[in-house]
Amino acid sequence: MASVFLVVFVNGKICKDRNTVSANDFFFLGLNMPGNTSNPLGSKVTPVNVNQLPGLNTFGISLARIDYAPYGLNLPHTHPRATEVLVVMEGTLYVGFVTLNPADPNVKNKLFTKTLYPGDVFVFPEGLIHFRFNVGKTNAVVFAGLSSQNPGVITIANAVFESDPPINIDVLTKAFQVDANVIKYLQGQFWWNID
Ligand SMILES: *[C@@H]1O[C@H](CO)[C@@H](O)[C@H](O)[C@H]1NC(C)=O
Repeated sequence: MASVFLVVFVNGKICKDRNTVSANDFFFLGLNMPGNTSNPLGSKVTPVNVNQLPGLNTFGISLARIDYAPYGLNLPHTHPRATEVLVVMEGTLYVGFVTLNPADPNVKNKLFTKTLYPGDVFVFPEGLIHFRFNVGKTNAVVFAGLSSQNPGVITIANAVFESDPPINIDVLTKAFQVDANVIKYLQGQFWWNID
């Protein structure tokens, strides 16, 4: 007799039995500790989403601490499932996001940027490509809230130039209007992941 197995992939976590839930399921510690920024980008994201804090499951909210060495960068990336709002605690950050493609092909995607200082709050709308750059001579620290328990992240350079297997070089050569050697060079780089 033939059996049919259906495998359902749910974008989320299974809820725990309420009788086994404890206070620790709603608890995370250590966000007072700076992340280690000794990497090529000079930045470190410490996420507190459903993967670190199970009690966030289904609640549509999460948190992150991001540390920056001087000139540290969060390279252009997007969260497919979350808007992100941040507050700067220390340092000076140049931040920005780019709007989606306008309906009119003659109008360009619009860049919004701001230089932020301690106490400043900035919001990156859901799904838009954004970046943050420490333009100060000191470390910078931000705390960010995200409107998903599992925001997801797509780092543009990594996704385009370091996919596994690589995107066909003819596709990227035509897409970026450059010589194939430029694409080979970019595909040969090590793309540091931001978290
Ligand atoms: C920070 O990361 C670097 C590179 O991985 C490592 O050598 C160093 O020991 C780390 N520092 C701390 C305090 O963990």
